[in-house]
Amino acid sequence: MTTERTRVAIVGAGPAGLLLSHLLAQAGIDSIVLDSRSREEIEHTIRAGILEQGTVEILSSTGASDRVLTEGNRHDGIELRFAGAGHRIDFAELVGRGVWLYPQHEVLRDLIAVRLAAGADIRFGVTADRVEDAAGDRPRVVATDAAGEPLEIEAEIVVGADGSRSVVRAAVTGSQTGGYFREYPFAWFGILCEAPPSADELIYSNSPDGFALISQRSATVQRMYFQCDPEVDPESYSEEQLWEELQKRVPGTTLNEGPIFQRDVLRFRSFVAHELRRGRVALVGDAAHTVPPTGAKGMNLAVADVVVLERALRALLLEGDERLLDDYAETALHRIWKAQHFSWWMTSMLHVAPDASDFDRLRQLGELRSVVESEAGRRYLAEAYTGWPLEGLA
Ligand code: DHB
Repeated sequence: MTTERTRVAIVGAGPAGLLLSHLLAQAGIDSIVLDSRSREEIEHTIRAGILEQGTVEILSSTGASDRVLTEGNRHDGIELRFAGAGHRIDFAELVGRGVWLYPQHEVLRDLIAVRLAAGADIRFGVTADRVEDAAGDRPRVVATDAAGEPLEIEAEIVVGADGSRSVVRAAVTGSQTGGYFREYPFAWFGILCEAPPSADELIYSNSPDGFALISQRSATVQRMYFQCDPEVDPESYSEEQLWEELQKRVPGTTLNEGPIFQRDVLRFRSFVAHELRRGRVALVGDAAHTVPPTGAKGMNLAVADVVVLERALRALLLEGDERLLDDYAETALHRIWKAQHFSWWMTSMLHVAPDASDFDRLRQLGELRSVVESEAGRRYLAEAYTGWPLEGLA
């Protein structure tokens, strides 16, 4: 068994793990990042596409991604569509902030390139099996390398940035699943297609047939989703049926159709781990919490966790001050539960539950009207969607 040493062992080379290693390196703190996946897989998995303003500021101001500002597209509003009419939520006017459409896998490509150019130690194809000695001063990640050989990494801090099926979580909460949990009786059917955009901004549509989201990727590729049964087989729909499903959920807009080259079903879950830290092991991103996709909070919340944790690790590892690490969970949870609420709220307001009664449907339209007809309602949505400021992390 080989034992290696570093200051911070980071399990997971997703946005949270890579950004953390980037910020730590800028403070002169070494880390090793492991991920069971290959670089190729990480860079090509399709995920959400919306970055909050604060996420863009962190990525661009720290040199983590220069392309977000040149290749990403700023959006100053979204449309909520229901009962046959569209209602624009004007972020710029309401909160003076915006979001950027820049897909997560592009963020990952940028982060991996920047880290490797800086000589970072990123181990692809290395699987963490468990974390030992979480409560001690030298916690260890016990792993298996790409050749199947055992490997141990001993560190001053271990960070679980290893996603919703986190292995590190068990060392923090005592079990793989320990957390607050909610499931939803629907999922999203996502497609990527070759077509020009169908609208200038994203459309979130509540229709009697269920929810649809008309998102975008570029001038020639679009991303769209519609509410479906979580058990549906993605291959069971013909392209024609997919267009029919999408089209009937956005009455008033004629979608530009084109070849569909990717399809997937996204499950909906809300989850927050019972604990985010134990001793010298901390969780960030999906390892700590999962949100349903409506409102695109997942990666943004991971970035916010990293900002809080990185500050705490700097205080600990450069100045020997443990106080910020002691506060990590409480500070991060403040934003996490606000984002949990927002993601749940957008989901419940826009989807049609399979068992919805007439009362439920009419109440939902009343809720949507309460939001779009009130400046306070629109402003709350705009604040949450564009992201509460990271500074102070309230
Ligand atoms: C996208 C995904 C979301 O969950 C969302 O709320 C907006 C956009 C996307 O993948 O484009």
